[in-house]
Amino acid sequence: MKENVLEMRNVTKRFPGVTALKDVCIDLRKGEILGICGENGAGKSTLMKVLSGSYTAKEYEGEILIDDKPVSFTNVYDAQKCGIEMVYQELNMVLDLSVAENLFVGNLPLRNGVVNYKQLYSDAEKLLERIGFDVNPRTIVRLLNSGQMQMLSIMRACAKNPKILIMDEPTSALTDQEVETLMKLLNELRDSGVSVIYISHKMQEIYRICDRITVIRDGQTISTNDIDKVQEQTLIEEMVGRKVENMYPKENHATKEEVLRVEHLSVPHPNIHGKYIVEDIGFTLHKGEILGIGGLVGAGRSESLAAIFGQYVKGVKKEVWVGGKKVKITKPLDAIRHGIGFITEERKLTGYIGVLSIRENMSIASLKKLSGLILMKRRKEREETDKQFRQLRVKAPSSETKLFQLSGGNQQKVILGKWLINEPEILFIDEPTKGIDVGTKADFYQIMNELTSRGVSIVMVSSDMPELIAMSDRCIVISEGRITAELEGEEITETNVMRAAIQGKK
Ligand SMILES: Nc1ncnc2c1ncn2[C@@H]1O[C@H](COP(=O)(O)OP(=O)(O)OP(=O)(O)O)[C@@H](O)[C@H]1O
Ligand SMILES: [Mg+2]
Repeated sequence: MKENVLEMRNVTKRFPGVTALKDVCIDLRKGEILGICGENGAGKSTLMKVLSGSYTAKEYEGEILIDDKPVSFTNVYDAQKCGIEMVYQELNMVLDLSVAENLFVGNLPLRNGVVNYKQLYSDAEKLLERIGFDVNPRTIVRLLNSGQMQMLSIMRACAKNPKILIMDEPTSALTDQEVETLMKLLNELRDSGVSVIYISHKMQEIYRICDRITVIRDGQTISTNDIDKVQEQTLIEEMVGRKVENMYPKENHATKEEVLRVEHLSVPHPNIHGKYIVEDIGFTLHKGEILGIGGLVGAGRSESLAAIFGQYVKGVKKEVWVGGKKVKITKPLDAIRHGIGFITEERKLTGYIGVLSIRENMSIASLKKLSGLILMKRRKEREETDKQFRQLRVKAPSSETKLFQLSGGNQQKVILGKWLINEPEILFIDEPTKGIDVGTKADFYQIMNELTSRGVSIVMVSSDMPELIAMSDRCIVISEGRITAELEGEEITETNVMRAAIQGKK
């Protein structure tokens, strides 16, 4: 058996009103990748913040041993001195500095007391090249997309040659290609003796890359197993603490009545000037239908939805009919007025306001339903948010809890709740269950059923193949800027979607 590099013993961490961790124990061996999984709010990020020095030794109980020696940190730098680096669930880059500066921040090469930019850029170039990450080191970080930023924060951690590397949901913003680069990088790190803690809700990734897996539920360690000795179904049940009989409870409420038609949609490429990411595509959406949009991450699906919704305007060409009438949508408010709602992919960046409560965040979007007399409004607002709060199983003391106090996945649920209250007739959802745990996913699909049974029509972009296949009534696939397949019912299979998704790719 490989030697232990890290042991965390009986770690307990309390927040006002919440015990986030109760006597949690984990151990990590040299040169292994240990997965950690558990429901939203189980305590995964908190445990890693304890390990990486975000919380001082006074703020929790328990012991941390590195190479069998007890350590105690008062800040992140203490942990870094012991070789611990963490890539956070939230992005944390200095937006107005270059890629190279961000990579070596705190560690910039100096000459006579000033930054040696020539060396900085050449060091950065070498590092980027070694990993195979194609971006100019002089680029200002603000101009990168969220996937590129995420890759950058991973590389920044690697550049410090850590002994223990912690990754908290590293792939949630990455394209398929970037995920491949990351997997390669992880294998290299493992081979060179680095130990990695890998937090993810994606079971496929966990099975692909991890050596062992620890399950955490309600702030307690439930089990640790070698990955090849434990079945996915067992892990899921350990995570949610109940039997999940039917992950995908699909009902069919699709009709033939057209509610939305898009034609001649062309959207400029966000990064490549003069090129379109999708060119002259179109589709029809029917009442009560769930129309899935499949394709590789980066194929332009999110951009297409944003363009129809009026969020992207510059250079966009489109013709849109709602309920058979031609409409002009030049800003999101136009779309909302025509009954369209949009749950965007980059919720973390645009979707919520951290210092406001769950209730306040949920009611922000509901222009229509909650209007009326002020007094009525208050009561109604509370009723509606409390309903969503329960329905989505948001883990928090109450709907008055501030958003920044919630775990990542629970923040996401609040954003979903906000649009569910608003009840648009047409709902665009981009990666609905990204960052959401397996138990809540099943609940969310049930909510989609309820919406469609009431005649709401949904367009869903999803990279989660089982979700796309199980929940779509019809599915179009986008590749290289075109629609390469339209599938219905039984035709929606993993093979058919994948084949169409890579069609035209070099
Ligand atoms: N700063 C804070 N103040 C108050 N409570 C907090 C704070 N940070 C986390 N919590 C609470 O601690 C619990 C554990 O949260 P944590 O972020 O560790 O969950 P997680 O397992 O990472 O979930 P997710 O999968 O959603 O990211 C949650 O109930 C959360 O609301
Ligand atoms: Mg988390």
